Amino acid sequence: MSPLLFLQVFLQVLLLLVSSSEAYKPVIIVHGLFDGPDDFINLTDFIQETHPGTNVTTLDMYDYWKSLTPLWTQVEGLRSLLEAKLNQSEEGAHLICFSQGGVICRALLSVIPNHNIHTFIALSSPLAGQFGDPHNRDLYLEKDDFLPLINGETQHKDLPEWKKNFLQIKKMVLIGGPDDGVITPWQSSLFGFYNKKREVVEMKNQEVSPALYICVFFPSPSSAMAIAAC
Ligand SMILES: *[C@@H]1O[C@H](CO)[C@@H](O)[C@H](O)[C@H]1NC(C)=O
Ligand SMILES: *[C@@H]1O[C@H](CO)[C@@H](O)[C@H](O)[C@H]1NC(C)=O
Ligand SMILES: *[C@@H]1O[C@H](CO)[C@@H](O)[C@H](O)[C@H]1NC(C)=O
Repeated sequence: MSPLLFLQVFLQVLLLLVSSSEAYKPVIIVHGLFDGPDDFINLTDFIQETHPGTNVTTLDMYDYWKSLTPLWTQVEGLRSLLEAKLNQSEEGAHLICFSQGGVICRALLSVIPNHNIHTFIALSSPLAGQFGDPHNRDLYLEKDDFLPLINGETQHKDLPEWKKNFLQIKKMVLIGGPDDGVITPWQSSLFGFYNKKREVVEMKNQEVSPALYICVFFPSPSSAMAIAAC
């Protein structure tokens, strides 16, 4: 099943769990590399057909070629857009993030204090890195100023705060699969990655946070965490 199709099935199940007396929380979509809001019209329609009245928005910033903007710059810009929306939504919101957008969302959820994102859904996002060569790990840790900082592979003073902020989510849904064709290894979308022998180690056996704290915080995949390989 393609990741997008899977997401539609999954959303249907997820959203059915919301009791009918409860209003649907707004859904905010963060697009990926070379995407923009127009690419999510069908998904928006699908959500609104399934759950009439849901406020669905795709953040309209760093679209298409601008998605090549350095990631921390994008996080800064998207942060004010997202915060403004969250500040208007007392009931909180769900975040659906595509590919590179998932990595950006992971950063947003870390740097925004007291955010009220309920469910974080990441679709085919290289959350543990991409094009990973375990033998180039030293270079990655030294040169990459994004994921190693967010994932706590390099130490810094903001880490405890970022972790606390991230863990305010109530539910995390990770979707990825071998058909993705872009992320290497594809298990990175489920927080898995290579070890030194180039074997893939799944999230719960990873040595570095966030795998560590996510697994401790959400011990049961059936409750607060859903992981799907499709
Ligand atoms: C959206 O749906 C229409 C009709 O089902 C289809 O023709 C179109 O290709 C879809 N667009 C995208 C971006 O998937
Ligand atoms: C949202 O609310 C927080 C807390 O009141 C405030 O610090 C922040 O500046 C607000 N952000 C925006 C973009 O309105
Ligand atoms: C959706 O929410 C935004 C606030 O984030 C609001 O400005 C907009 O009017 C809402 N749209 C609908 C259709 O309710």
